[in-house]
Amino acid sequence: MPVTRTPTGALPAHVAIIMDGNGRWAEARGLSRSEGHRAGLEATRQAVRFFAEQGVRALTLFAFSSENWGRPQEEIDALFDLFVSAIEAELPELVERGIALTFIGDRASFPTALQARMSEAEQASAGNEQMRLVVALGYGGRWDILQAARRWAAEGDEGRDSEVEFASYLSTAGMPDVDLLIRTGGERRISNFLLWQAAYAELLFLEAFWPEVTATELEQGLAWYTSRQRRFGRLSTASTGTANNEAPHA
Ligand code: FPP
Repeated sequence: MPVTRTPTGALPAHVAIIMDGNGRWAEARGLSRSEGHRAGLEATRQAVRFFAEQGVRALTLFAFSSENWGRPQEEIDALFDLFVSAIEAELPELVERGIALTFIGDRASFPTALQARMSEAEQASAGNEQMRLVVALGYGGRWDILQAARRWAAEGDEGRDSEVEFASYLSTAGMPDVDLLIRTGGERRISNFLLWQAAYAELLFLEAFWPEVTATELEQGLAWYTSRQRRFGRLSTASTGTANNEAPHA
């Protein structure tokens, strides 16, 4: 896989979202946190439709982090039930839209019913080419780098470009780097999400809680992204008089 350089002004090839604020959205309305997650699922459905219709090739959603295992068991159980029913309910539309659904993260500790739904969904949607939807469950960026490093050390062949070689051991193998990373809910942190993959991502922090985010806000986010000058550590066009979006050794 080549290191990707999505040019300035182009649609992001890969959007990643930290869907934060479900709990606070619910608490502000006197609802349970689980009701907040259900409202978050509706926002997720709208976001998937929006990015698929825009023609974005890859969308990665942070739905359960390695650190979320520290939440009360009741909330974890409700989340797992929600994931099982969401996968069952949404799969037909995803397949109809030509979306391939995959999961990244350490799934070994998940309930077997959830693991089974995850595998079935991956098989049922494999080969779809309109968009790749990746749901990060039991995921942590450090976990990902560590599992890749272990396998790379055991099997890897340090080739001409070792960053490219290493990336093929990450759980996002074959996907472009993250171009746009969105976090809702007012916090300005990456929180151990796609640490390697988002090295050059444009970071968009929205104040809105995830259940409040609509297509209008996502549209504004895309417009903001396309106005960004992407330099990948090099100088801008104005300083060099050369195009600034070509790969450095192109
Ligand atoms: C963060 O909000 C959100 C989560 C930990 C769960 C995200 C899950 C969904 C949006 C459902 C989507 C389902 C699928 C299958 C993709 P929080 O609880 O940390 O909110 P807080 O910061 O206000 O407490």
